[in-house]
Amino acid sequence: MKTDETEDLAWIKSIMKQELDLRPPSLARFGKNSTIIRNESGKPTGHLTLSNRWQGYEINSLFVDPAHRGEGISHTLLREIKQNRVFCYTRDSRLQSALVRAGFTRAKFPGFVAVMNLIPTRTTMFAWMLLTLDFKRIFHQIKHLSKYKLYMKIKTK
Ligand SMILES: CC(C)(COP(=O)(O)OP(=O)(O)OC[C@H]1O[C@@H](n2cnc3c(N)ncnc32)[C@H](O)[C@@H]1OP(=O)(O)O)[C@@H](O)C(=O)NCCC(=O)NCCS
Repeated sequence: MKTDETEDLAWIKSIMKQELDLRPPSLARFGKNSTIIRNESGKPTGHLTLSNRWQGYEINSLFVDPAHRGEGISHTLLREIKQNRVFCYTRDSRLQSALVRAGFTRAKFPGFVAVMNLIPTRTTMFAWMLLTLDFKRIFHQIKHLSKYKLYMKIKTK
């Protein structure tokens, strides 16, 4: 891994560690479906990763560096998404607003095939959090479970 990528991953992990709504930092990945927004000096300011859920993509770990929140970076991140069928679970009102502006609408169900992917991946993630004793994150996510809302965007050509 190149130095820049190592630094990016360290930055991603440091934010994921603080934000309990996100997946645990030990599961942070930076791959072909990840996007990083940078400032003029090249410092990362925003990140998102899309996970393939077989029936579209789920927005995972969308966050903005605390020093740059409120600058519209969530809108920039969402504009980078090129996939046609994308969904996101979030309880953050700022992200909900940005999703609506980007053309997402509230939805009840991400699709049967997507659920077939989500059940094992979420179960594995919770098992991993248990194994790594990340009880604070587990407790936080279970406590707020009913507040996570689903937003979806399906582009028709
Ligand atoms: C949620 C988050 C990504 C928003 O990113 P951001 O770049 O700071 O947000 P923006 O500046 O683009 O603002 C998005 C909207 O929220 C509003 N907003 C921004 N800061 C706000 C605040 N402090 N209070 C109320 N509204 C606010 C903006 O006015 C904007 O509204 P608009 O859509 O009508 O223009 C960022 O706060 C974050 O990283 N939070 C922690 C991680 C997280 O919870 N991620 C979501 C779970 S997947």
